Amino acid sequence: MSIWKTKSLTQLLSEASESEKGLKRTLSSRALVALGIGAIIGAGLFSLTGIAAAEHAGPAVTLSFVVAAVGCAFAGLCYAEFASMIPVAGSAYTYSYATMGEFMAWIIGWDLVLEYALGAATVGVSWSRYFLELLNKFGIHLPHSLICSPWETLKLSDGTVIEGGIINLPAIFIVVLLSLLLIRGTKESASMNNFLVVLKVCVVILFIVLGWSYIDSANYDPYIPANTGVKGEFGISGIAAGAATVFFAFIGFDAVSTAAQEAKNPQKGMPIGILGSLVICTILYVLFAHVMTGLVPYYEFAGDAKPAATAFAKTPYTFLQTGLIVAILAGYTSVILVMLMGQSRVFYSMSKDGLLPGFFGEIHSKFRTPWKTNIFFMFFVSIFAGFVPVSDLGHMVSIGTLLAFVLVCIGVMVMRKKMPDAPRSFRTPLVPFVPLAGILVCVYLMYSLPQESWIRLVLWMVIGIAIYFIYGKKNSKLNNE
Ligand code: ALA
Repeated sequence: MSIWKTKSLTQLLSEASESEKGLKRTLSSRALVALGIGAIIGAGLFSLTGIAAAEHAGPAVTLSFVVAAVGCAFAGLCYAEFASMIPVAGSAYTYSYATMGEFMAWIIGWDLVLEYALGAATVGVSWSRYFLELLNKFGIHLPHSLICSPWETLKLSDGTVIEGGIINLPAIFIVVLLSLLLIRGTKESASMNNFLVVLKVCVVILFIVLGWSYIDSANYDPYIPANTGVKGEFGISGIAAGAATVFFAFIGFDAVSTAAQEAKNPQKGMPIGILGSLVICTILYVLFAHVMTGLVPYYEFAGDAKPAATAFAKTPYTFLQTGLIVAILAGYTSVILVMLMGQSRVFYSMSKDGLLPGFFGEIHSKFRTPWKTNIFFMFFVSIFAGFVPVSDLGHMVSIGTLLAFVLVCIGVMVMRKKMPDAPRSFRTPLVPFVPLAGILVCVYLMYSLPQESWIRLVLWMVIGIAIYFIYGKKNSKLNNE
């Protein structure tokens, strides 16, 4: 029994064709792009742009977005090749199984929990912030102990500071609601997602168009504020640090690949879904950040959890504020939805391979969704959303995602060596330059994250490796063939 044994491509593809009995093929290329945008535009844009501008890059946060996008594009090109070649649920996990063997596949599958499950929790917490703002507008105030985790300080818009509550109930509420929707069906979830995506793209475009005429060009002077003498505080190193912060805004494009088994024409749809959503979001992000820092001097965004609302208040369209908050909430909702869906599909695949108990791979007889996984993650994600501070969650998500990107970039190079002639409807250009550049940018961004996130990443991985040797290795279908 070797932990490095790989699954053959033939085996993976035959498993996918058996999917008639399992997941339904309902998603068109357009639905896949929508799925990507659904997972991408969210807390990163509406909350972190201001922080990155105030603390790291100033108006040059637009350049931070470009740097982060370049790193994601390299990784995205690698994802697209894999997704067009191995259109099976499970994304990076499945790709590693075919290239680097079972152990690495387990590592990456385990790592993806950080991206998808904790990603959903992080955005759930940010959702609760805007939700409270909305309730406030209607004069509804929830008890402080029920809107904040015990280890978090929360500043409300009326200036009240809550030094730790008991539980963040609104965050749990949204996680539970969306988990139940996912159980109901992929098609239903995708329809809801399409609606939410249209709404959030409209609000981003509206913000850009309405805000553009009120830009004060004095706010762009200087465009790249001088470095303060501390690495990462403005100047060129500030642009890089800003990129590590706003990287969160791009997380999610890879979630498209987790739905490969539900795509109508995965060979064509996967690259379109992944790269299309990435390009659209990058253009919107740069324009949005440009308008935001043009409306308000960048330093005024310090400590502001709702910078989009602050910037919009500089326009005469303040009567649209409530609408803006509702649309932002819708945007966050679709991010959580896609993240939860991606997570359940990864565990579904791992369970099908015997690395996790069969429980996670069970499909609901009527809804044809992996409902038990959805219920499991409903509880798992709720615990994190309800009790863990948002910044700790966010850093864990970023570091976990970057690690997955690095492994996918390595995987493409391995695949080219091992199976140079296997059919691929999309080929990553300029291999090995693109994957190597992807690794370089992602490792650099990982290096820019706080030390605690590295420690937590190692701890999480140690737990995962222990589970693999106690359960997965013994029960792996590949090893027991
Ligand atoms: N990219 C997603 C967001 O910004 C995770 O919310």
